[in-house]
Amino acid sequence: MPAPRATRLAIRAPLLSYGGNPFEADPAACVRYESDGLVLAADGRITYAGPFAAALVPVEAELHEYRDAVLTPGFIDAHVHYAQTPVIGGCGKQLLEWLETYVFPIEQRYENVEFSREIARLFFAQELAAGVTTTVSYCTVHPASVDAYFEEAARLGLRAGAGKVLMDRNAPATLCDTAQRGYDESKRLIARWHGYDRLFYAVTPRFAPTSTPAQLEAAGALFAESNGVYMQTHLAETRAEVEWVRALFPHSEDYLDVYDRAGLLGPRSLFGHAIHLSPRQWDRLRQGGAAVVHCPTSNLFLGSGLFDLRRALSAGNPVRTALGSDIGAGTSFSPLVTLNEAYKVAALRGETLAAHAAFYLATLGSARALYMEDRIGRLAPGYDADFAVLDLTANVLLRERLRFADSLEETLYVLMMLGDQSCIRATYAAGRLVHDRDNPGA
Ligand code: GUN
Ligand code: ZN
Repeated sequence: MPAPRATRLAIRAPLLSYGGNPFEADPAACVRYESDGLVLAADGRITYAGPFAAALVPVEAELHEYRDAVLTPGFIDAHVHYAQTPVIGGCGKQLLEWLETYVFPIEQRYENVEFSREIARLFFAQELAAGVTTTVSYCTVHPASVDAYFEEAARLGLRAGAGKVLMDRNAPATLCDTAQRGYDESKRLIARWHGYDRLFYAVTPRFAPTSTPAQLEAAGALFAESNGVYMQTHLAETRAEVEWVRALFPHSEDYLDVYDRAGLLGPRSLFGHAIHLSPRQWDRLRQGGAAVVHCPTSNLFLGSGLFDLRRALSAGNPVRTALGSDIGAGTSFSPLVTLNEAYKVAALRGETLAAHAAFYLATLGSARALYMEDRIGRLAPGYDADFAVLDLTANVLLRERLRFADSLEETLYVLMMLGDQSCIRATYAAGRLVHDRDNPGA
């Protein structure tokens, strides 16, 4: 059952969102900041976002006030594996060995429905505590793992996407389906969940090495024939994986071409990582309207490589780009921490990730990557009432450091360098308070 919508909500707080892309235009022209702001919401949607005026607050509305805070659109986590929550931080390997050691063993446990439900609850509680209100997750090969995820997202009233992982080779037999079974089970899950409340389905071949060409083709057919569904997979995360794909698909031009030939590249395709790409692949992603998802904590943890954010979002030729935690290879649910590491990945490439660009990436930029920029990622009338409230006094160091910040940009930099999940004072989804840091039981 979908969560009931809060009928009327009013929040007084400083407001931050973006009306344009700071990677392409002057950041000052993109940022929308209201130092004493008000957002009003009714039936899960924003009805007003602008300067505070007491007369604007409807008498029947519940008024929440946050001082020393910044209210942003709820963050978006566009690449995550909810089922890997129990193995976050399991260390010491690169991708392919890490999959064998940590991921495949835990994913076998999702055969058990109760276990799936328990981890789905834990996962969404962590995302909400981190200020994330939209998630796009891989599940496991088991359809029940998808049901558990969507049931919990629906209970919380979240916008969420997910799909059953498709694998038919190079993985333990208990985690493999077949091209036909994967197709049939995914189709049933699409019928059940896609378009229900705010939920959406993503056809999910794990990555080229664990699917035969026949399975990729079946996934491509499903993607083409199911109106509005998404497709998610991994692309060029590590050099060893790229070599493996070259050996497995000798007739393809490059890694992206494997997916392209199977009909898996287009608008609403989400490619996680996309680190080791040629200019041709970047151009094809752009031309095909596909999106890439930058997952810096994961890339640093596994030593996978340094994502080229400048190329991704380069003015004149940008590829839709989102931000992801990639839990369990990623090491934090907090988008503040993810942005901190995105900053360092850029720094290692000799580049600078500006603070406004970073907060844009976690909100409106990711919404654009998902083709949802008219529904989420901004504080504007008609948008979903999904918010994160960032506490500028969450700890002594943050509070004292911010006394010396003399611009909004510096405040945001400090937040992303010192901040983490403990800075999220509250999270709202569809106009309902779904995480209250200081009243956890309420
Ligand atoms: N490539 C294929 N599967 C996975 C996964 O589960 N995590 C990451 N980081 N990369 C992958
Ligand atoms: Zn991943």
